[in-house]
Amino acid sequence: MKKIVVLVSGQGSNLQALIDACQQGRIAATLVAVISNNAQAYGLQRAEEAGIAAQALDAKAFADREAFDAALAQAIDQHQPDLVVLAGYMRILSNAFVQHYAGRLLNIHPSLLPKYPGLHTHRQAIDNGDAEHGTSVHFVTEQLDGGPVILQAKVPIFPGDEEDEVIERVQTQEHTIYPLVVSWFIEGRLAMRDNAAWLDGERLPAQGYAAD
Ligand code: GRF
Repeated sequence: MKKIVVLVSGQGSNLQALIDACQQGRIAATLVAVISNNAQAYGLQRAEEAGIAAQALDAKAFADREAFDAALAQAIDQHQPDLVVLAGYMRILSNAFVQHYAGRLLNIHPSLLPKYPGLHTHRQAIDNGDAEHGTSVHFVTEQLDGGPVILQAKVPIFPGDEEDEVIERVQTQEHTIYPLVVSWFIEGRLAMRDNAAWLDGERLPAQGYAAD
């Protein structure tokens, strides 16, 4: 059985979607550990409830980002995962960390990348009068929220929408597309090469699979 380690910082609703997909056999892998930079993250509780090893690392105990990320990589590598999944992990990663997991590190970002990298994406989309928003699953590279996109999902923004409503609409899509992409990776269908995502041997376009 292939092994997955998930990194979280907060609620962990995407983690829950992955736990459910593994339990239901939609992802043919075991979630071997959930690690957080935030001891209070509800995601750690979700892991414990599902019988998954849960661990927190406190950044304040380390001299700098490199030292923290080295300890994080050590904690991850103890489990010898095939894939590392960022699910609402809110710390910037050092280049050494990203390089160590190149091609086996996924993230989900709540925007239609390359639009709106960084924080407060829903607010920006509303303020700009966008008619649609969405989410992107991508391979992680050294460029923040800039790695090759694998799959996106779009949602409408209606006049008068509050930020919370758009967040919820986006998250509903995230809970479907993230487990799907993880299952592709676990089945050996997905890879990163030449700074692009490849599915079933075909190079995916910049907006990922099913760009239309
Ligand atoms: C998600 O919306 C994801 O796109 C972003 O952070 C949020 C995490 O939510 N990276 P949760 O912790 O999975 O509920």
